[in-house]
Amino acid sequence: MQDKITYILDGKIETIEFNQENKPTNTVLNYLRKTPCHKGVKEGCAEGDCGACTVVLTELNQDNKLLYKAIDSCLVFLPMLQGKQLITVENLASKNGDEENLHPVQDALVKANGSQCGFCTPGIVMSMFSLYKNENNPSKERVEDSLTGNLCRCTGYKPIIEATIQSCVNNGADHFSTDEKKIAEMLLEIKNSSESIEIKTENQQYFQPLTKIEALNLKEKYVDAIVTNGATDVALRVTKRHELLTQIIDLSHVQELKKNVISEYLIKFGAGTSLEDVKQISQKELPALHDLLAVFGSKQIREIGTIGGNIGSSSPISDTLPLLMVYNAEIKLQDAKSDRIVNMNDYVITYRQTAKKPNELITKIIIPRPNPKAQIKFYKISKRKDLDISTASAAFLLLLNGNLVEEIKIAYGGMAAVTKRVIKAENFLIGKPWDRNIIEQAMEIIGAEFTPLSDARSGAEFRTIVSKNLLLKFWNETQI
Ligand SMILES: Cc1cc2nc3c(=O)[nH]c(=O)nc-3n(C[C@H](O)[C@H](O)[C@H](O)COP(=O)(O)OP(=O)(O)OC[C@H]3O[C@@H](n4cnc5c(N)ncnc54)[C@H](O)[C@@H]3O)c2cc1C
Ligand code: FES
Ligand code: FES
Repeated sequence: MQDKITYILDGKIETIEFNQENKPTNTVLNYLRKTPCHKGVKEGCAEGDCGACTVVLTELNQDNKLLYKAIDSCLVFLPMLQGKQLITVENLASKNGDEENLHPVQDALVKANGSQCGFCTPGIVMSMFSLYKNENNPSKERVEDSLTGNLCRCTGYKPIIEATIQSCVNNGADHFSTDEKKIAEMLLEIKNSSESIEIKTENQQYFQPLTKIEALNLKEKYVDAIVTNGATDVALRVTKRHELLTQIIDLSHVQELKKNVISEYLIKFGAGTSLEDVKQISQKELPALHDLLAVFGSKQIREIGTIGGNIGSSSPISDTLPLLMVYNAEIKLQDAKSDRIVNMNDYVITYRQTAKKPNELITKIIIPRPNPKAQIKFYKISKRKDLDISTASAAFLLLLNGNLVEEIKIAYGGMAAVTKRVIKAENFLIGKPWDRNIIEQAMEIIGAEFTPLSDARSGAEFRTIVSKNLLLKFWNETQI
């Protein structure tokens, strides 16, 4: 066990120790704001919405190659830096003696007049940089996706997008490429000497196990400990609600939870797989899941947030839930001694209460490959298209035999205290022709199945109308 963390900053291996002042739940953003020469990073919202705090983390992939990921440092607890390289805006320019040369993305931003205010620009530059390292000649769509997590209140996105398109043309070549071998060796050195982490301060305990069995044993021993993986939900308890989290089990370094299996019949995601990795895998395998993740948070959120964390949150507006229900997905729940499989349709019991026992962890999400003839879609209704949470959502799976409904599954999020299938409407539709007259009758059944709430996002009446109209939209898009 180690009680400090080791990571790379400014090309050097650094160590961070924890105490009452530097808590393990301190965020990377707050730490950097107190670190000399790294104050370019800014706090705009402290909840993952503005991107002013964007930094890049590099880590080794399975082949010991470096991966560059832009993340929101306001939502990352310091111990999550263990074994990674942290790159901030101050690291981008290359230095040759006294001479400083801007990084290609910075240079392009200056030339396109895209450098607007000092608050957003450092974060925007870091998102551009991660795209520069990962993609050559990205499409406009890819550029916009990479910048979704960076808000600019002056709305001057055009020059920023142009600068990104113009700069991402060098196959990622820069001074980081020159140092890549050295950094990979340093990260490997840290990895080879790393142990599981247990940080104890006067009133906090922070565990970062390296193996699944260690994590399960910790959960058995500390049943009430807060489990976290990407912390994109959990960190808000610290940054927004100012809670002192006294016992935390951080799963972010358990590699077994990031393993995925793609077979003829099933797709299995380790619960710790990042939503961005799930998005990439599902592009070919499960297109509806890919489309859902294209409007899930921002790239920064998806790089670090996990599929297990979305299910773990079990909120009525957790976006993956309705789709996993119509996929008839199963989740594997494990404790230190045994495991069991629970169908997604039986997982959430009441508001944020689930079938998971306190000593269990979610370890796998198993999605049976849908019938290739099934038409599957997910719709998200939100005030903004990007970086917004759902007002309501719906997932549909339809299998037609000629024009008759052979199988239909419909699940809604945001309409009740739990994500819910509309069984009455499904039963009504089975065996009936897939035509407008029948759909209109089913819409009335759906309207009667919910008594939605009015809240800041919308009124109850709007939600009822939208729930009915989503079925109509699905019907419109599935005409033969
Ligand atoms: C700016 C922003 C935008 C967002 N946008 C969306 C969105 O569009 N759609 C959406 O649905 N959500 C959204 N979220 C919520 C969040 O990002 C997701 O729920 C994400 O999937 C959480 O994953 P995580 O790994 O970060 O979870 P964490 O924050 O680490 O954990 C979330 C919950 O799951 C539990 N948990 C995590 N892993 C496990 C496990 N293996 N076993 C048991 N319990 C576990 C934790 O105890 C906790 O209760 C957004 C959040 C932010 C901050
Ligand atoms: S401070 Fe706004 S996303 Fe981090
Ligand atoms: S760049 Fe900061 S508001 Fe536009």
